[in-house]
Amino acid sequence: MAGIGSSGRDGFTSKFGIIAAAAGSAVGLGNIWRFPYVAGDNGGGAFLLFYLLFIVVIGVPVMLSEFTIGRRAQANPFGAFMKLKRGKPFVLVGIMGIVAAFFILAFYSTVAGWTLEYVYLSVSDAFNGKSGGEISEMFNGFYTSTWGPLSWQLIFMILTAFIVFAGVQKGIEKYTKILMPMLLVIILVLCVSSVSLGENVDPETGKVIGSSWDGLKFLFYPDFSKINAEAILAALGQAFFSLSIGMGVLITYGSYIGKDNNLTSTAVQVSFADTLVAVLAGVAIFPAVYHFGMSPEAGPGLVFKVLPNIFQAMPGGYIFAILFFLLLTIAALTSSISVLEVVVASMVEELKMKRVPATVIAASAITVFGVLCTMAFGELSSFKIFGKNLFDLFEFTASNIFLPLGGLLIVIYLGWFMGKKEVLAEISNEGTIKARLFGVILFIVRFIAPVAIAFVFLNGLGVFGFEATGG
Ligand code: PFF
Repeated sequence: MAGIGSSGRDGFTSKFGIIAAAAGSAVGLGNIWRFPYVAGDNGGGAFLLFYLLFIVVIGVPVMLSEFTIGRRAQANPFGAFMKLKRGKPFVLVGIMGIVAAFFILAFYSTVAGWTLEYVYLSVSDAFNGKSGGEISEMFNGFYTSTWGPLSWQLIFMILTAFIVFAGVQKGIEKYTKILMPMLLVIILVLCVSSVSLGENVDPETGKVIGSSWDGLKFLFYPDFSKINAEAILAALGQAFFSLSIGMGVLITYGSYIGKDNNLTSTAVQVSFADTLVAVLAGVAIFPAVYHFGMSPEAGPGLVFKVLPNIFQAMPGGYIFAILFFLLLTIAALTSSISVLEVVVASMVEELKMKRVPATVIAASAITVFGVLCTMAFGELSSFKIFGKNLFDLFEFTASNIFLPLGGLLIVIYLGWFMGKKEVLAEISNEGTIKARLFGVILFIVRFIAPVAIAFVFLNGLGVFGFEATGG
């Protein structure tokens, strides 16, 4: 089954390759860095409940819709809607997707740069013998500085561009297949270590500083008094961001999926894997947060401040720290390549550019935005728009506005414009596999998903407004 995408396009070569690449895009910093701190900021358990609900009723349907559109059209998000029946007005999805790609990769490469610094710090055993406070200060000193974060960011963007050059099969598929399973194993080890930290008693005063059980309670006990419209919008944004949906990444990847793949089961499996990693990341982080008496609302620095403490406390922590941050960087890479791929595929197919110059131009232009994001914590920290620094502004706008809007348009197109026959033909592989749940899927795509997205979106923005969510 070589390069099965028709029309001579590059494509994935096996079922496992498809899952690995799509899960590689989905599983990334969103699960391990973003999920814990957004959940921490928004009340923990109740946030998790809404998040899981959105994955099922919105996430899976949007993902399946993207795969279906991409494989049917055999094109990038922009080209796909140009080609498909009654699709023209929806090219807006392709345009918004490119803007979102710039915003996302900008802040994503900032954080990925931090992970590279943490690989370096782990190798040089920099956490050894440091107190929780000192470890926090290390992070604070680093991310507000200029040249360190910028250099790592540049290295990360070069790595991203390098894999995208190599193409779909020899780049994306080859690497993700080996690396994603390794990451899962390390997170499981971290979960066990974090939970088994238990109670933390100050040896001098005998006072209990904290207990890992409180962390589990924070993550799993739904305290609805902490939930408001803003938190629900954040759960929606996190679901979109984490699954890589709403901006055409999975339309693009769908176009590389072979005609014999069962898209419905692929969408379910990828969503499940992604959700599992996010929840496990929560289990790795929150018990440790509580054990060490830290705040779950520590913001974007949360994992960088918490995990080095666990590594210090566990046997073999030196090696685990290196492996963990290395694999986190790799998880970030398998996601960032998918974002860059959207821009590059659009330039190659729509502007008839060659792959290499398209990659260089796109990556360079995105890096300019990325530099601004990195500097938003240092030199540019007083520069704010709507009360947010540039990093927060890009992050909020992409995740909570562009992705949900893109997702809304995508399900509306699939449900109401693409045509039932055409959708059925694609989902059932031209009638060769049973699409048993088709009726249910169509109902969700037509009614439930669009209404839910529109409701959460308008409610979240209407009650709090863009400015009121600042900070
Ligand atoms: N899903 C990735 C993560 O969770 O880290 C990030 C991401 C990739 C978001 C691709 C959006 C996207 F289109």
